Amino acid sequence: MPEPVAFSAVVRERSSGAHSSSEGADFMTDLMRGKGTREDYVALVAQHWFIYEALEAAAARMADDPVASAFVSDKLTRLPALEADLEFLIGPDWRSRIAPLPATTRYVARITEVGTAWPGGFVAHHYTRYLGDLSGGQFIGRVLSRQFGFETNGIGFYLFDEIADPAAFKDVYREQLDAAPWDADERERVIAEVLLAYRCNTELFVDLAAAKKAAAA
Ligand code: HEM
Repeated sequence: MPEPVAFSAVVRERSSGAHSSSEGADFMTDLMRGKGTREDYVALVAQHWFIYEALEAAAARMADDPVASAFVSDKLTRLPALEADLEFLIGPDWRSRIAPLPATTRYVARITEVGTAWPGGFVAHHYTRYLGDLSGGQFIGRVLSRQFGFETNGIGFYLFDEIADPAAFKDVYREQLDAAPWDADERERVIAEVLLAYRCNTELFVDLAAAKKAAAA
């Protein structure tokens, strides 16, 4: 009998089209190709703050859940790094100078909803953000730091000080996905939520591009 395909590989495979859409959003490709401005980058960091505030509050709530807790790790926590980045990029009054875009408000509402009542849904959002940050995010961080001349200040979000070997960390994370005691229906629901999480990120890039256009008009 052929080996069953690992759930982590199924998730990756079934979401690769959604990943391409997120990765290919104009706002992101402009930023990666040097066509974005420092303000564009700051606008993205500000939206990340709202997203990770919701995600990490959900992680704290899920810390006692028998399944979701396996994925929660202090080594991933991004909120303090985002706050230091915003302080560096905007100044001490950063909190009063940022606001969520409509796509972020929807994204945050969904994270909060599933992050309260549905461990599998929480893991879907957790996976989509943190495994992305530990994958393409490492490359994105290097490109942006070169473009804007950041060393560590301003780009701390992409630096996982407590994860020396992201590839090894991701391998363990994938083993945990494979080991999660979800039946076929729940696995389908988790995959659907990963797709939704990607869509939230793509919509955020669309909103960021629209806000930029509106500001320039
Ligand atoms: C410029 C934008 C992006 C680039 C260049 C990029 C690039 C990559 C690359 C090269 C990988 C594969 C790394 C590996 O094989 O280990 C990857 C994986 C991943 N990316 Fe992205 N990415 C981008 C945007 C995004 C966004 C917006 C998200 C969602 C928030 C995301 C989520 C993920 C996830 C979850 C994985 C891990 C897939 C898995 O192995 O299960 N990426 N990305």
